[in-house]
Amino acid sequence: MSERTIALVTGANKGIGYEIAAGLGGLGMTVGVGARDAERRDAAVAKLRAAGVDAFGVPLDVTDDAGVTAAAALIEERFGRLDVLVNNAGITGGMPQEPTRVDPEIIRTVVETNVIGVIRVTNAMLPLLRRSASPRIVNMSSTVGSLTRQSAAGDDTGPIAAAYSPSKTFLNAVTLQYAKELSDTNILINMACPGYCATDLNGFRGHRTPEQGAVAAIRLATLPDGGPTGAFFDDEGTIPW
Ligand SMILES: NC(=O)c1ccc[n+]([C@@H]2O[C@H](COP(=O)([O-])OP(=O)(O)OC[C@H]3O[C@@H](n4cnc5c(N)ncnc54)[C@H](OP(=O)(O)O)[C@@H]3O)[C@@H](O)[C@H]2O)c1
Repeated sequence: MSERTIALVTGANKGIGYEIAAGLGGLGMTVGVGARDAERRDAAVAKLRAAGVDAFGVPLDVTDDAGVTAAAALIEERFGRLDVLVNNAGITGGMPQEPTRVDPEIIRTVVETNVIGVIRVTNAMLPLLRRSASPRIVNMSSTVGSLTRQSAAGDDTGPIAAAYSPSKTFLNAVTLQYAKELSDTNILINMACPGYCATDLNGFRGHRTPEQGAVAAIRLATLPDGGPTGAFFDDEGTIPW
């Protein structure tokens, strides 16, 4: 078994996921670049390797049962375990998304990726994570999933979004259930909000860089034993539910 820490980041071919992979690699981890498109995956792996990261490609569409099972088999075969899983892949489903007009199909698609995709990948990787001395799972959430923030008068809470924002609320709720079930294990599972970052997801309108957006997830991926679990963080600290 490898002495190095083995990490997998989903949706790591670009944006915040790429920077999380670069950051974990910079800390000396071996990083699996989970990405659904072969060309984009290969390009990201090559760029990371050129930057000195021990990166390898993992074909991974989080909505595809067989593909996720194959991704777990690939990691098992190469390393026998997984230490860090960052569930970063996500979509907005496109805007506008007013609840009074939204196509239910958009909600299904967004939940399939942002929530069920996380459950699918997490459950496929759990047997490998259970073999780690200090397993960490980070789910990329958002403050737009905070019901407290969404209902606070006067706050800038982003666009009205019947699919994207509730998908992150749903993800937070599911992550809490994992934390409860896994509370008697050494697995720490938390949610990270990257802040509003300039990426494809928002037409590059965010005011933070993807590198800045990666910081919260990297911190949660490297928590010491006995650290928090079932919590929702950004760079400033905990975020209200
Ligand atoms: N940007 C922000 O301001 C912001 C704020 C709060 C939270 N977040 C969250 O941060 C995470 C990363 O977002 P980002 O801003 O970096 O977005 P991004 O640049 O659009 O990157 C999203 C990544 O997810 C991948 N992805 C989408 N669907 C997938 C699927 N079915 N299977 C595998 N990979 C898939 C994309 O791959 P392709 O290249 O193949 O499409 C891409 O690699 C998301 O969970 C997002 O909700 C972002």
